[in-house]
Amino acid sequence: MRKKVTKAIFPVAGLGTRFLPATKSVPKEIMTLVDRPLVQYAIDEARAAGIKEFIFVTSRGKSALEDYFDHNPILEQELRKKGKDDLLETLKSTNMESGAIAYIRQHRALGLGHAVWCARRLIGNEPFAVMLPDDVIAAEKPCLQQMVEAYEETGGNMVAAMEVPPEKASSYGVLDVAEDMGAVVNARGMVEKPVPGSEPSNLAVIGRYILEPSVLRNLNKMKQGAGGEIQLTDAIAEDINAGKPVYGYRFRGQRFDCGSKSGFLQATVAFALARDELRGDLSRYLTETIHASQAAE
Ligand code: G1P
Repeated sequence: MRKKVTKAIFPVAGLGTRFLPATKSVPKEIMTLVDRPLVQYAIDEARAAGIKEFIFVTSRGKSALEDYFDHNPILEQELRKKGKDDLLETLKSTNMESGAIAYIRQHRALGLGHAVWCARRLIGNEPFAVMLPDDVIAAEKPCLQQMVEAYEETGGNMVAAMEVPPEKASSYGVLDVAEDMGAVVNARGMVEKPVPGSEPSNLAVIGRYILEPSVLRNLNKMKQGAGGEIQLTDAIAEDINAGKPVYGYRFRGQRFDCGSKSGFLQATVAFALARDELRGDLSRYLTETIHASQAAE
């Protein structure tokens, strides 16, 4: 019987400089798509996949994240008094069972691999998930749940994967594919931010991982990779060299890169259009605006 994946690491220590000045005082993960912070989308996806323990790797200035997952007794009392049961219900998804959430500080920004390594003692010797909240994935069946189901068949390490335009591949971790079985590919290598022209494929790693504890041991070596950072991709690739399987999983769904302004705006529009109460007004506005700008050209 394969061990169940019940723990997830959320690396949220980044400075979010691409969104300055907003991120001067608001953690990037608290920025909202419609009315829910980015991190809420990741938490909901993790819950749907059966995750029970949520480990945040944070840094200075991220206390708003801790408050977000805490009860707010004054607000709740006020809503109860006013009979706003629907809003009370909405708040429920932000609360965590006591002991289900942990915060670990990454004291120095040494890279994604290092951030994940900071959580090693809370993971112990079992498979775990890593979720990058910047990658928001709209899907009928949440992406991590799809991966957990595939992982139950394959075991090993598994990364979410997506074809990207070849000229964009150098911005990602990229898979070197040994065998393509459709939804699942078997990787013979992985490269973080390959030099343009040297990409082994255009199958990019997206921010969802199911990993074996051996990856944490690989990270103990603190090897510097692309950009002088300790890269998660390198630690996973090391498992391939040690003869352990690494699979890419082509998920069904639409991924938004909410680490970029353009991706964030696209996600805002997509999630708003998915909401019954917003769709009519917004699509009317978008159609009119597009027509007006076309007419002006
Ligand atoms: C990180 C990973 C990279 C992955 C990407 C997905 O890079 O290091 O392998 O392809 O997330 O979003 P970052 O976007 O933090 O540079």
